[in-house]
Amino acid sequence: MSETPGGSGLVLREMTLADLDQVEAIDQASFPTPWPKQAFHYELTRNQNALCWVAEWVEPNHPPVLVAAIVVWLILDEAHISTLAVHPGYRQRGIAQRLLAKVLLACAQAGAAQAYLEVRANNHPAQSLYRKFGFEAVGMRKGYYQDTGEDAVLMTLSHFDPVKLAELVEGG
Ligand SMILES: CC(C)(COP(=O)(O)OP(=O)(O)OC[C@H]1O[C@@H](n2cnc3c(N)ncnc32)[C@H](O)[C@@H]1OP(=O)(O)O)[C@@H](O)C(=O)NCCC(=O)NCCS
Repeated sequence: MSETPGGSGLVLREMTLADLDQVEAIDQASFPTPWPKQAFHYELTRNQNALCWVAEWVEPNHPPVLVAAIVVWLILDEAHISTLAVHPGYRQRGIAQRLLAKVLLACAQAGAAQAYLEVRANNHPAQSLYRKFGFEAVGMRKGYYQDTGEDAVLMTLSHFDPVKLAELVEGG
């Protein structure tokens, strides 16, 4: 799906195998313990419960640049945000917001009624992003992250609001 026919802007679309090198590079630039490429390959080809999407920045006469990726597991009526990262050079432009909202809308259409995730206790940008969607911190998992020993904050969104999600997709 292109949201920018003929112009420049952001395209939100499902991930393909051709994206994996760039998805891996974004993950490596974003996390202390990034996923290996094979993990994304598995999600894309074998995990029928996974929604794998990317955001691409497009400009006329330039090749598109892959700028963000997300994997969400949809299990019964629960969406689990498994990973989300934006290329460091493209942050704070609303890209994570638009991509997350797009995928949560797809989850809602597939039957999800609620969502949850774990986020590092010191990852304030991500927590702020999720709060903007209405996620609330509901618990703490002590020492959840083995690489740094950090705690995880468990956040849940107990109700999907399709109108709000549609506004967030548009950058509102
Ligand atoms: C967290 C992350 C995905 C945000 O991506 P982004 O595209 O920069 O976020 P957006 O521009 O869409 O911001 C949306 C909201 O997130 C919050 N936010 C994003 N970056 C922020 C920052 N540096 N400081 C504070 N709040 C921030 C704000 O609430 C913002 O809304 P606002 O613009 O109305 O203030 C990005 O910083 C990233 O990839 N970080 C490394 C990987 C990571 O932590 N992933 C999340 C794992 S749970």
